[in-house]
Amino acid sequence: MKCNRLVDVGRRQFLRGGVLGVAGAAAATVMPAGQAQAQTARAMLDYPSSKLANIADLKVNEPMDIGYPDADSPGVLLKLGTAVEGGAGPDGDVVAYSVLCPHKGFVMSYHGADKTLNCPGHFSRFDCEKGGQQIWGHSTQNLPQFALRVDDKGDIYAEGADELIYGRLSNVL
Ligand code: FES
Repeated sequence: MKCNRLVDVGRRQFLRGGVLGVAGAAAATVMPAGQAQAQTARAMLDYPSSKLANIADLKVNEPMDIGYPDADSPGVLLKLGTAVEGGAGPDGDVVAYSVLCPHKGFVMSYHGADKTLNCPGHFSRFDCEKGGQQIWGHSTQNLPQFALRVDDKGDIYAEGADELIYGRLSNVL
């Protein structure tokens, strides 16, 4: 009988600890989320502005090779032909992405038929009309999209990235 009561007390303490543990974990989750937001915002600002091309240089659905934030970091500049969320330019359809696969850094190629970037390594695929969202494969993050600004002369500038570019320890140079 006494033994049963001890088991019961032990179970209640375990459950209480579990609840506190979950609450603690939730609190811990809330804190880093705020930090992560701050880091994302900072990452967008940390890359220097770099001119990529002029809007007149782009043809619909024909990718242009770029290097951003430096020549060691290949990317692609695209005029998609339809406005997308985050798209720049007068038609809201100009986007730019890193072409280094977030999984293991293979250089990806553009597939115009479905507007995706495709990895030859392990076949991850990313949707260029959806902010680089991964739609298939091993990668554990979406594709870094470059923040673009188009000035009144039509010059296109990249000014940041919204994800960690493969091979970099942080989104700073
Ligand atoms: Fe691209 Fe593995 S390197 S999926």
